Amino acid sequence: MLILGIDTSCDDTSASLLSIENGRPSVITNVISSQSEIHTKYGGIVPELASRRHIEMIVPVVAEALGSTRPEDLSAAAVCYGPGLIGSLLVGVSFAKSFCWAKKIPLVAVNHLEGHALAPFLEASPGFPYLCLVVSGGHTSIYKINDFADYEELGRTRDDAAGEAYDKVAKLLGLEYPGGPKMDRLANEGNPKSIRFPRAYLPETFDFSFSGLKTAVVNHLVGLGDSAKPVGQEIARDVAASFQAAVTDVLVRKCEWAIRQTGIRRLAIGGGVAANAGLKEKMTAMAKKHEIELFVPSPRYCTDNAAMIAFAGAKRFKNKQTAGPDLNAQAYLPL
Ligand code: KG4
Ligand code: ZN
Repeated sequence: MLILGIDTSCDDTSASLLSIENGRPSVITNVISSQSEIHTKYGGIVPELASRRHIEMIVPVVAEALGSTRPEDLSAAAVCYGPGLIGSLLVGVSFAKSFCWAKKIPLVAVNHLEGHALAPFLEASPGFPYLCLVVSGGHTSIYKINDFADYEELGRTRDDAAGEAYDKVAKLLGLEYPGGPKMDRLANEGNPKSIRFPRAYLPETFDFSFSGLKTAVVNHLVGLGDSAKPVGQEIARDVAASFQAAVTDVLVRKCEWAIRQTGIRRLAIGGGVAANAGLKEKMTAMAKKHEIELFVPSPRYCTDNAAMIAFAGAKRFKNKQTAGPDLNAQAYLPL
């Protein structure tokens, strides 16, 4: 099976060519055109600029992903149709519909969160069921993955997503967008115990909350004096390290609780924040302590990529779940 995957859900235009032989996926290409440079000067994603850039990039990115492969030789094309920024999603969906119609190949619709939840399969073979923590810029949820296309959400954030909190705190520290990866590096140089930021454990639930932590960082910085001035490097390092310690403590503790409550001894993490080195380290230690299997995709498969969409699409295509020309983009789309 040869599948083309397309993801334009946020600010990266991505296309991937994936082959599946005897059930094992092999990523042939995974092209990602980042828009960071465009959005950096605004301190965050400007949706209108994002969709315009997708329009410019979708054809060259798909062409690069296909390489010398002829579109007619594809088994199907899988496109992410939500959740995400509506203008961005529409570019991918409209392109995929026209492409499939013109080349007479089947179209498959994939939920972006399904892509993140199945990304571990690109490099490993987790057995079912497994728990999956999806931590991205728009979502923070724990799912029970019973089988392909059989998912249960156990809990989710009640306010900010973890990645959103990372990006907002990064901005407060004067770091350029996207702040998450820069916070990760800075946190590595600071003292995680220097400031005791609050941890919202929300006991007896699988839910999360990160807005109080964000406010605590704001209050801490205001307490330091002139909030209009950027903080010094030393302060920024310790704030980043202490913030990261609070976020990762909560994420790890929740997963630990989910393992205890469900008795499931396989855990995967996915989404942009799963690329965080501090989170991986703490999750690995926890998995070792409980002797459970842990699946953490390589950073390129944690952050948005079309290979994960191609894989999820291949599974749906195998089950004959194809989409028609009435497929529409959906900004809000639960898994
Ligand atoms: O999954 P993703 O690429 O896009 C969404 O679906 O949202 O996740 C993007 C989020 C951003 O908030 C970004 O700052 C965060 O993931 N992120 C990180 C790291 N790499 C990306 N956060 C913390 N540490 C990282 N290394
Ligand atoms: Zn994502």
